[in-house]
Amino acid sequence: RNKLPQYNTLKDVAKLLHQSKNIIVLTGAGISTSLGIPDFRSKGTGLYSRLASLGLSDPQEVFDLGVFNDDPTIFYSVAKDILPTTDKFSPTHAFIELLQHKGKLLTQYTQNIDNLETRAGIRPDKLIQCHGSFATASCVKCKRRVPGETIFPDLRAGKVARCDACIKTVAEAKKAAGKKRKRGKSGDTWRKKRYSEDSSAEEEEFEIREAGVMKPDITFFGEMLPDTFYKRLLELDRDKCDLLICIGTSLKVAPVSEIIGLLPPDVPQIYISKTPVTHVEFDIDFLGSCDDVVVELCRLVGWELKHEMIPEV
Ligand code: OAD
Repeated sequence: RNKLPQYNTLKDVAKLLHQSKNIIVLTGAGISTSLGIPDFRSKGTGLYSRLASLGLSDPQEVFDLGVFNDDPTIFYSVAKDILPTTDKFSPTHAFIELLQHKGKLLTQYTQNIDNLETRAGIRPDKLIQCHGSFATASCVKCKRRVPGETIFPDLRAGKVARCDACIKTVAEAKKAAGKKRKRGKSGDTWRKKRYSEDSSAEEEEFEIREAGVMKPDITFFGEMLPDTFYKRLLELDRDKCDLLICIGTSLKVAPVSEIIGLLPPDVPQIYISKTPVTHVEFDIDFLGSCDDVVVELCRLVGWELKHEMIPEV
């Protein structure tokens, strides 16, 4: 794809915002960092720099399905660092909601798992959570799905969450087997009592151990993205999109990074982030805080972007 030469300045983009009716916004962790949520790959502050101490050959292994299945304690020991502790959303989230409000948002494809797009008011029919989110969690064994909040206490405590439904099933199976065993047995009452007291804690531990591990419905490396991602992109959005804005992502993870190459070459492509990317060429790059860039863009277009973090003028 050849770079489109007619777009060079924020004013050009402001004009594009005026004209465009079907904007794809592709977002990454950078749109939430102003809220104190770390991104993944920023040196020093990103989650992956902080994970050097875990002894993993690659910090991305925290989100590797095989590693999770072998040892879920690794994920559970770091999950609290990325679990959203805030309901607040950033000015950039507000900007995307403003595009929706103006009837210009075709779809927001977000790689973020903090679910703050929903808090900002992006409607489900306008949002693809490409890597899932903490909004729900499922048991890896019995597949039962629960609201994400159910496992938040365990996530915050760094403790592997187990499936309540499995625990119940294991307990019932044990009880049924125990009844069978007891039948026909007799003996000293005191000894029997002692036996049951000592074993109850052990039994409970066994039941928990046998139960499936709960995994937040985040797309790990080694898992397919939700069907809606491909369906929406290839069957609806690709031919409709008239502007692409990528915000706060390093575009290091496929297939999301491939969205850009799939769009028709005449669709203008804009990049807003603190760090430049070298493996993708955009028509315009705005390097800096995305909140600052979108505030300036709205000012140029004449849109009022209201947010508590934006000083009133
Ligand atoms: P990265 O951490 O790879 O990239 C975040 C980008 O945002 C970097 O280029 C930062 O410079 C930039 N950035 C940070 N704060 C910013 C700010 N305030 N304003 C503008 N730019 C800012 O995060 P992603 O690209 O989202 O997967 O990572 C993609 C996927 O990799 C994630 O979804 C995650 C990870 O493995 C899963 O969780 C499954």
